[in-house]
Amino acid sequence: MARKVLSLLLPLLLAAVGLAGLLLLCIPTRDVREPPALKYGIVLDAGSSHTSMFIYKWPADKENDTGIVGQHSSCNVHGGGISSYADNPSGAGQSLVKCLDQALRDVPKERHVGTPLYLGATAGMRLLNLTSPEASANVLAAVTQTLTQYPFDFRGARILSGQEEGVFGWVTANYLLENFIKYGWVGRWFRPRKGMLGAMDLGGASTQITFETASPAEDPANEVQLRLYGQHYRVYTHSFLCYGTDQVLKRLLAGALQTHSSHPCWPKGYFTQVQLQDVYGSPCTAAQRPPTFNSSAKVSVSGSSDPALCRSLVLRLFNFSSCGFSRCSFNGIFQPPVAGNFIAFSAFFYTMDFLTTVMGLPVATLRQLEAAVVTICNQTWSELQARAPGEGAHLPNYCAAATFVQQLLSRGYGFDERGFSSVTFQKKAGDAAVGWALGYMLNLTNLIPADPPGLRKGTNFSSWVVLLLLFAAMLVAALVLLLRQARSAKSASAI
Ligand SMILES: *[C@@H]1O[C@H](CO)[C@@H](O)[C@H](O)[C@H]1NC(C)=O
Ligand SMILES: *[C@@H]1O[C@H](CO)[C@@H](O)[C@H](O)[C@H]1NC(C)=O
Ligand SMILES: *[C@@H]1O[C@H](CO)[C@@H](O)[C@H](O)[C@H]1NC(C)=O
Ligand SMILES: *[C@@H]1O[C@H](CO)[C@@H](O)[C@H](O)[C@H]1NC(C)=O
Ligand SMILES: *[C@@H]1O[C@H](CO)[C@@H](O)[C@H](O)[C@H]1NC(C)=O
Ligand SMILES: *[C@@H]1O[C@H](CO)[C@@H](O)[C@H](O)[C@H]1NC(C)=O
Repeated sequence: MARKVLSLLLPLLLAAVGLAGLLLLCIPTRDVREPPALKYGIVLDAGSSHTSMFIYKWPADKENDTGIVGQHSSCNVHGGGISSYADNPSGAGQSLVKCLDQALRDVPKERHVGTPLYLGATAGMRLLNLTSPEASANVLAAVTQTLTQYPFDFRGARILSGQEEGVFGWVTANYLLENFIKYGWVGRWFRPRKGMLGAMDLGGASTQITFETASPAEDPANEVQLRLYGQHYRVYTHSFLCYGTDQVLKRLLAGALQTHSSHPCWPKGYFTQVQLQDVYGSPCTAAQRPPTFNSSAKVSVSGSSDPALCRSLVLRLFNFSSCGFSRCSFNGIFQPPVAGNFIAFSAFFYTMDFLTTVMGLPVATLRQLEAAVVTICNQTWSELQARAPGEGAHLPNYCAAATFVQQLLSRGYGFDERGFSSVTFQKKAGDAAVGWALGYMLNLTNLIPADPPGLRKGTNFSSWVVLLLLFAAMLVAALVLLLRQARSAKSASAI
């Protein structure tokens, strides 16, 4: 009896070990490994309306791999963007202190010294540099002064070009979605063949569109060639300065002041005092500025909830009348036909999210978006407040923002129904925010090599094969033993 139990135990044990081993082999090695030492990197995204800090982390031994840099934490700087401190530069530096102090806590102390720290400023500072190069230099000097007081490896505060902003947003989106290269479960790299995602970013002062294209670039200013992981990418990109939401709202208000006694994009029943400096102080409204105006004077403006007039006011932001190339988006800017899937983030996401989540309007097609825009632009102030309580200061501006987004995508960039159905609106991919910041850091820290990582898991792969064979052999042995057992039991009972 004891012998019988024992003889059954051995094959069963073998089978269990073999099965368990095979199962374990099927789990990606990444997940079963001990967490290796981490490295960190910090990027301050100094946008026109506010600054965000992102802390990224990655395993120290896998610098050249992909899909492994993740977002560790983030922080929103209170107050306006650094460009709003033109008259008080030191205030710009001071505004960052709270988030930097958080970074001191979020990054382990022994890693402080080796952690790169970047500040990149975008269209708000581009505009300030246009109106007052001196003020923009002072602001950058002030933030530099603050950043150098921290133990991190500070690598500079600078203004990104619109082209860089667009391309780094594209790199971020495709990196997070593992479109460049992917870590397979057998411990090898492979290049997914699903095509690159176009990227659309809508900030406070500019908007960017970036996508891979096979069409030849008729304007070299719109073409960027990239070599990532041994693959060549030809990317179209353009950044429209003054087409971010805050600047668009100023331009619409200036337009309303020129031609209407009220603002057609604001809800009926809403009125407010507008200081002329707030409207005309920006270079984006220079063309609409009266020859003389009292900058501290205020005018009273009321809304009129007029979807059609609002639309024509928004359409005046686009100039379709001249194009020196075979085709243009608007304002004489070359653009090949939009192609492939797109991700639209930042204010694109917030605007669409308001329409769907708060207002409960469907926006799956361009036609639905158009109807949703008319619906929200036709609401009175009290109706709007009743439907969207707690939306705060942005509420009167959603009609203008939604009308602009709709016109920009359809008329401006030329998305038709089919193209529009390939656009997803989202602000995050996994745990990480989609924006230019991650792509910027990946590039500056050389975390994306030009050449492919190759088979650097070669040794792992061969040991994986040996283990696979071993466990399979165990299973087979167990089966053979069991079979023999069954046969001998049969012949014993036959006797
Ligand atoms: C990453 O790649 C670069 C060259 O592309 C090389 O110099 C560097 O040593 C690599 N780093 C690691 C950790 O493999
Ligand atoms: C400001 O603009 C000028 C002219 O385009 C440029 O040369 C300069 O580098 C800009 N300043 C900064 C800090 O980027
Ligand atoms: C400008 O407007 C302010 C506020 O309305 C007023 O006090 C001031 O007298 C005006 N200045 C001129 C020159 O009109
Ligand atoms: C559109 O652009 C063209 C060429 O730049 C210019 O001549 C025309 O005045 C512009 N139209 C408007 C309405 O701004
Ligand atoms: C706007 O709303 C009013 C009623 O509140 C309605 O009569 C009108 O048809 C609507 N206009 C549009 C363009 O939807
Ligand atoms: C990324 O960095 C490399 C140098 O490290 C540079 O040559 C390249 O132009 C950068 N890419 C972009 C899109 O700026």
